[in-house]
Amino acid sequence: MEKKITLSVIKADVGGFVGHSGVHPELLEKARGILSGSPLLIDFHVTHVGDDINLMLTHELGRNNGEIHQLAWDTFVACTEVAKKLKLYGAGQDLLGDAFSGNIKGLGPGVAEIEVVERKSEPMIVLMADKTEPGAWNYPLYKIFADPFNTIGLVIDPSMHGGFNFEVRDLIDNKKIMFSAPEDIYDMLVFIGAPGRYAIKRIFHKASGQIAAVSSTQRLNLMAGRYVGKDDPVCIIRCQSGFPAVGEVLEPFAHPHLVAGWMRGSHHGPLMPVPLSQCCPTRFDGPPRVIALGFQLAGGKLIGPQDMFDDPAFDEARKLCNQIADYMRSLGPFEPHRLPLDEMEYTTMPLVMKKLKDRFIDLRTTKAKKK
Ligand code: 13P
Ligand code: 13P
Ligand code: MG
Ligand code: MG
Repeated sequence: MEKKITLSVIKADVGGFVGHSGVHPELLEKARGILSGSPLLIDFHVTHVGDDINLMLTHELGRNNGEIHQLAWDTFVACTEVAKKLKLYGAGQDLLGDAFSGNIKGLGPGVAEIEVVERKSEPMIVLMADKTEPGAWNYPLYKIFADPFNTIGLVIDPSMHGGFNFEVRDLIDNKKIMFSAPEDIYDMLVFIGAPGRYAIKRIFHKASGQIAAVSSTQRLNLMAGRYVGKDDPVCIIRCQSGFPAVGEVLEPFAHPHLVAGWMRGSHHGPLMPVPLSQCCPTRFDGPPRVIALGFQLAGGKLIGPQDMFDDPAFDEARKLCNQIADYMRSLGPFEPHRLPLDEMEYTTMPLVMKKLKDRFIDLRTTKAKKK
């Protein structure tokens, strides 16, 4: 049997420096120190986007492996200790459980794992975002894997012409459904156009059945039952030779879309593609950021990273994000800058409702009584 390599990207916010803007270097050093001592891994890379630490781990143990998840959990717990020592903001924010019990999913950290038999050349891009939610990937993933105006390979590359299958998750009812692109795109868009509830989890190359992309779909507030922070999702995409070219994967970010998140996880704003050097969101805790690290896998070694948005070709996108941010900010506490009430429910709405309950007068009953 051919050797299978798994890339596990596991992320968590275990304390911000300063506020929710970044990660203190001591936490990253701690994480690297722990991972470099692990016999489970072939290779690893540690980075951050905003206040989220991203662990990229390669190994031969497959997806949902207890030992790998335990290693990530222990790493985040150790980083939390450092965060507590430095009194960083929200130390341990995303670690919802007190104890690890076999699988890190449901405990707070976000997880995306891809298991592959390495091709002759295996380019991958890991997208990582801060100040937004998992559904933020719906728009770019749709463009990358289903829109010929973005991905010319769908039209002119015989190995892509058959299209891709999309696994979409209903994050509220915890269900999944498969869609086939291009045949089902009108049906699929009904759902993925509502990214607060439906998120693309996995994409498969239709002809070969091979995995093409996987995202983290954990929703923190649904797990915790209260606002803890946004999920700040990650996504792994395989590139080239039957999969979208690197440039086709990055292209949707040249035209920024609006995502939910930003200040207090309660605002819409543009998703700004940035190099690592610009990944700490500070204006109104934003606007939301996305970084893209490129790797070539070689026997499980992560050759890289290449900082993909460190390219002046994305300057105009960043400029447009700033213009959109100015406009959206001018709306202040009004929708559509502020999120709609059903999303706000997880914050102050129930409390305010409770407080004002007796001040609401039911106009229908008042009228009826007058008659
Ligand atoms: P499942 O929730 O389908 O097991 O996903 C595991 C995984 O690969 C996380 O991205
Ligand atoms: P994070 O989800 O990145 O922790 O941000 C929380 C927040 O409240 C930002 O204003
Ligand atoms: Mg935070
Ligand atoms: Mg964050």
